[in-house]
Amino acid sequence: MNTNLEKIDTTAQAPVTEPERQYYFMARAREHVKALEERLGRKPLCCVTTFGCQMNARDSEKLAGILKAAGYEMTQEENADFVIFNTCTVRDNANQRVYGRLGVLNGYKKKNPGMKIALCGCMMQEPSVIEKLKKSYGFVDLIFGTHNIYKFAELLTASFEREGMIIDIWKDTDRIVEDLPVERKYSFKSGINIMFGCNNFCSYCIVPYVRGRERSRNPEDIIREIEGLVSDGVTEVMLLGQNVNSYGKNLENPVTFAQLLTQVEKIEGLQRIRFMTSHPKDLSPELIQVMKESKKICRHLHLPLQSGSTRILKAMNRRYTKEQYLELALRIKREIPDISITTDIIVGFPGETFEDVEETIDVIRKVKFDNAFTFIYSKRTGTPAASMENQVPESQVKEAFDRVLKAVQDTAKEQAGRFQGQIMEVLVEERNENDPRLLTGRLSNNMLVHFPEDISLIGKLVRVSLDVCHGFYYTGRMVEE
Ligand code: SAH
Ligand code: SF4
Ligand code: F3S
Repeated sequence: MNTNLEKIDTTAQAPVTEPERQYYFMARAREHVKALEERLGRKPLCCVTTFGCQMNARDSEKLAGILKAAGYEMTQEENADFVIFNTCTVRDNANQRVYGRLGVLNGYKKKNPGMKIALCGCMMQEPSVIEKLKKSYGFVDLIFGTHNIYKFAELLTASFEREGMIIDIWKDTDRIVEDLPVERKYSFKSGINIMFGCNNFCSYCIVPYVRGRERSRNPEDIIREIEGLVSDGVTEVMLLGQNVNSYGKNLENPVTFAQLLTQVEKIEGLQRIRFMTSHPKDLSPELIQVMKESKKICRHLHLPLQSGSTRILKAMNRRYTKEQYLELALRIKREIPDISITTDIIVGFPGETFEDVEETIDVIRKVKFDNAFTFIYSKRTGTPAASMENQVPESQVKEAFDRVLKAVQDTAKEQAGRFQGQIMEVLVEERNENDPRLLTGRLSNNMLVHFPEDISLIGKLVRVSLDVCHGFYYTGRMVEE
């Protein structure tokens, strides 16, 4: 962060331009937090909890950056002075978790009446959620949505200066505000938004309704951000978007995703590049070529299938057939043999039959996914699939889910061991959770390796011999160059 908050005159009018306006409010929030610190006789604590995807996790780092600039100290404990839940609404169980945890927060707030509770993220873009919160969760102090998250400093200040529940939700936005502070979770790796929103309207999915239309960031802003991260110690970046393959199409000077990757590759000091998520319908031959030739792009592609039945894919509005998906996945494997392909699958979409599920299993067996996230279809109000008449009964979904899961586990197990005995590079991420003598590193293909070594290696790239495969991870030992 380049702006010195101490130099901002908080008695003056707030600037109208961004991000200057938000820096002004950070300075103002800081005064309130300082007063709170004097009252409490200790540093006020804040906690940011993420419920959603990588994009939500990145948003949480932005929230944390602002809270830190305002003078809070971060904690993982939800019994803090300021707690914010960054919510997800992609499936109903994500929503239920938020309501459950809010009940717990209410208990904390009764013991610490000065505590502030804030909610933001995708779930807040749903009017029915806001109604419910207004009615039954009056103890929440601040609610905002996905489109105005850049205004968090301003809203935080308002929560100190105004009484009652503050609600600020926008329907949509076309703006992107650059250059706000970020507090990263890891020192050596970072997510980077390259685009926001989604235009695909898969018929089951709520994301386009809660994240708005697709907007790409300018390549210069992305490159500048990554260069800044690299000079701050980052060696691996993950480029984030709901459909990175359509990056840049609506920019004033259109740029393809493959071209963006080529530019990112040139950044000196950057070692690894990942990206998420690729929609199969937009994955270009140019991208496969760039991946193939790249020294930095990781050998991992997350390519959501959703269903292997062409009939269901059509009803899902995915705009590819079973055959097109198979052809694409197998071509990528042919061109880049050491690549790991992972996927997302939905089971129980309206109208799905036993035979449709067999088609999905057929694709799993033919592609041999290295891993797959299997989800039970969740009805999202307002999406076209929610009003389809042929919803599948729960018992049938359960049976199909178990069959799909078994197929996924079989191929994943078969795939996992294929690098046993090889020496590969890993990025050391952390001390092993279960065994403190071990470090955990990540292979280019996203698999984890545990090996004994010193924690001073965290954040470094080292070479490890993959001695034993244990299903989804390896154990091994570091080898010198
Ligand atoms: N943009 C990404 C996916 C984002 S949501 C893409 O298109 O691949 C992550 C995953 O959640 C999806 O891939 C899908 O498998 C799952 N999902 C989305 N909506 C769902 C719903 N209504 N029920 C169950 N799973 C859902
Ligand atoms: Fe949802 Fe489809 Fe967009 Fe992915 S591409 S976010 S599944 S609408
Ligand atoms: Fe969830 Fe929003 Fe991500 S709905 S999956 S947090 S974009």
